[in-house]
Amino acid sequence: MSTVQPDRSPFTQLDQMSQEMRDSVIAALDGMAADPQIQRVRARALDALRPAPGQRLLDVGCGGGEVARGLAAYAAPTGHVTAVDLAEAVVEIARSRDDGSHVTYEVGDVQKLGYPDGSFDGARTERVLQHVADPDAAVAELVRVTRSGGRVCLIDTEWDSLQFDGLPLELVGAMRQTLLGGVMLHHTDMGRTLRRRLVRAGLTEVACEPVPLWWTDPAKAAVVLPMVSRHLPKKAGIIPAELQKSWFEAVDEAAGRDEFLAHLTIWVAVGVVR
Ligand SMILES: C[S@@+](CC[C@H](N)C(=O)[O-])C[C@H]1O[C@@H](n2cnc3c(N)ncnc32)[C@H](O)[C@@H]1O
Repeated sequence: MSTVQPDRSPFTQLDQMSQEMRDSVIAALDGMAADPQIQRVRARALDALRPAPGQRLLDVGCGGGEVARGLAAYAAPTGHVTAVDLAEAVVEIARSRDDGSHVTYEVGDVQKLGYPDGSFDGARTERVLQHVADPDAAVAELVRVTRSGGRVCLIDTEWDSLQFDGLPLELVGAMRQTLLGGVMLHHTDMGRTLRRRLVRAGLTEVACEPVPLWWTDPAKAAVVLPMVSRHLPKKAGIIPAELQKSWFEAVDEAAGRDEFLAHLTIWVAVGVVR
């Protein structure tokens, strides 16, 4: 099943945003990178990709580039990592953070990569496919640029798994509809579809793993869940003021009773190119 829709996710339009909004998004990505639960997801993805010395590796939708630099340490001393992002501004930030590791930063679209077939020994993309118009084209590209026997690792959120406890159901429904009903991203089911997409792309040894994330502290949840963040959606003007007010009153009350609970699953899927 291939779903192609016009671009509408802010994550496909970072170059078109105001500097202030983009800075907020980058700060949010940095917060996630430092989050222990996201680091747990990344550790599972690292196990799945199996980077090794001498390899040529690819990270697409690289954000700040910290994962690419981490991979470069595994590929050292003779290997190399290519970090790609659609947004020029993001690539510039990633490049400015370079620490001398063997990483090249480039602008590119995961749906149409500019590399010859079999250029890499391994490729990954994290929390990118949920935003792109044609995820199957993206998977086909990652497979095409990976050599036979190389590994392709996909990491993505299953937004349909998002659950809260301690909050009124109607508020949760309204917030879900406002933020996840097509405003923030294309595919709320991306996490659970990753395995199928690798199977259909013809990979072998396909494996997948759900990594559950959960929070009882709204401030910690806000690092990963945009609807709990008091900053980002407000700046983006996505949430109506009245809903925002009722939502955060309910979140604060739940936290005051120590009854706030949020859960989200991120999937890691991997396969070997034939
Ligand atoms: C949610 S962020 C995730 C960044 C990083 N992978 C991480 O885990 O922190 C999504 C990133 O994908 C990039 N992106 C969006 N659409 C893309 C596309 N078609 N090709 C390559 N990168 C894309 C965005 O610019 C953004 O940096």
